[in-house]
Amino acid sequence: MIAQKVGGDLFEVKPAKPYPNEYQACTEIAKTELESNARPAFEKNIDNLTLAQYDTVFIGYPIWWSALPRVMMTFLESNDFSGKKIIPFCTHGGSGLAGTEREIKDACPNSEVLQGLAIVGKTAQNDSAAVEKDVEAWLKTLGY
Ligand SMILES: Cc1cc2nc3c(=O)[nH]c(=O)nc-3n(C[C@H](O)[C@H](O)[C@H](O)COP(=O)(O)O)c2cc1C
Repeated sequence: MIAQKVGGDLFEVKPAKPYPNEYQACTEIAKTELESNARPAFEKNIDNLTLAQYDTVFIGYPIWWSALPRVMMTFLESNDFSGKKIIPFCTHGGSGLAGTEREIKDACPNSEVLQGLAIVGKTAQNDSAAVEKDVEAWLKTLGY
């Protein structure tokens, strides 16, 4: 929805080893990864020349244990976002962005991290009209 509204291109960070669909199993793996500060591999990186063409990058992710999924940290640290604007957005179950803007800032110290958007996961799945309203209001504050 964001890409459509800002005229963006999409790149999906796909974990090399898929996480379980089963919620409980996924939470356990994610917890172990967070506790060990793991950097799980992802399938295919965006190439440098492609990334260089963009000055603004929206980074989307679910909140896992009040943090970014560790595979997103692998992605952030595998690329050079220097001089770019990073705009975070997440889905969550109640904790909002949970300080993940700070995590992104730490991983990308030479980037400007702008005000993020947090959407409740169930709302994202079931109420696209409500999401659209929130997304539009947020994009407006960012100057879109
Ligand atoms: C491993 C794992 C950890 C999670 N930790 C949190 C959390 O700390 N705070 C939170 O608000 N939601 C948490 N959630 C909920 C996810 O953010 C939510 O499932 C995701 O945004 C997608 O929403 P949906 O599954 O309801 O569609 C967690 C989910 C998983 C799978």
